[in-house]
Amino acid sequence: MRIAVIPGDGIGPDIIRQALKVLDRISKVYEIDFEYQEVLMGGAAIDETGRPLPEETLEVCKSSDAVLLGAVGGEKWDKLPGHLRPEAGLLAIRKGLGLFANLRPAILFPQLKSASTLKEEVLGEGLNIMVVRELTGGIYFGQRGRRMGPSGEEAWDTEFYTAHEVERVARRAFEIAGKRGKKLMSIDKANVLESSRMWREVVSGIAGDYPDVRLEHMYVDNAAMQLIRNPRQFDVIVTSNMFGDILSDEASMLTGSLGMLPSASLGEGRPGLYEPVHGSAPDIAGKDLANPIAAILSTAMMFRHSFNREDAAAAVETAVEKVLDQGFRTVDIMQPGMTRIGTEEMGDRIAGGITKN
Ligand code: IPM
Ligand code: MG
Repeated sequence: MRIAVIPGDGIGPDIIRQALKVLDRISKVYEIDFEYQEVLMGGAAIDETGRPLPEETLEVCKSSDAVLLGAVGGEKWDKLPGHLRPEAGLLAIRKGLGLFANLRPAILFPQLKSASTLKEEVLGEGLNIMVVRELTGGIYFGQRGRRMGPSGEEAWDTEFYTAHEVERVARRAFEIAGKRGKKLMSIDKANVLESSRMWREVVSGIAGDYPDVRLEHMYVDNAAMQLIRNPRQFDVIVTSNMFGDILSDEASMLTGSLGMLPSASLGEGRPGLYEPVHGSAPDIAGKDLANPIAAILSTAMMFRHSFNREDAAAAVETAVEKVLDQGFRTVDIMQPGMTRIGTEEMGDRIAGGITKN
């Protein structure tokens, strides 16, 4: 298996190092061969080449089986024009690899229940929501511009979707829902936006192909409220790029620990891209403080979605749970009575805990 590795900026290199320890351990225990190729993206690439996504990086990623990404961005590059910022590299790699479906699970680990800002009775027995965010269309990629108008400066961004773009991400979400709780909530703003009205028609139009999944629709403002009021009503959510960006941050915070959440971005084949949901946190970079669990759990998603190795995916997830059960915590999830450890030790402990089931 060829894996393109993009450590990126800030804590990116810190956490990717831990994810690689886990991959090495899986390689031994499960006898899977990995070949890593490290490439540049984001701020690191801007410093080196002047561009956030060098041609070479995209080519290496395209010829890999999967891409493992740390995080990109930092204050250092914040003053650059939009198309030269580290974030532009992230958008370009998503588009360049055709990664239209972004899977962001919001899972509450029972060991971390008290870290959530929600009351325990709202969380109940736990939380397991999968946000499927459309990732290569919508307002992120629609026409935008700025000009001087008769009454001063004007600026615009365009929410634009083709029916095909909606259908392919919706089908992916139906399939995922079919393997989980069999409930799909499509979220839009069809009471106002024409693009949302088409979104709703397209999603409803294919529902008949998935008779075992119950489809419902919800307006995005209501969804933002319902996620706080009663998050357990959700199983799988499918929504546009912009709404998904916002709602996935909200959903992740329900679990109280952004440092725990992985993600997968998938297209029509290989490669998939795997990255933690959290950002580059430059203020704690290189200080052995970052929580590597989101990056490590991203490798589990890689085994599941790119390599079809549920056994290895489960082994990684079990190893994480084991270390949490033993009371080890990085500072972001530290609680009274637990043992505080650093990034490296967390990586070592999780990798060391991987066994053959
Ligand atoms: C995310 C991030 C990115 C996005 C930014 C960094 C461009 O917020 O992955 O959710 O908006 O997609
Ligand atoms: Mg975001």
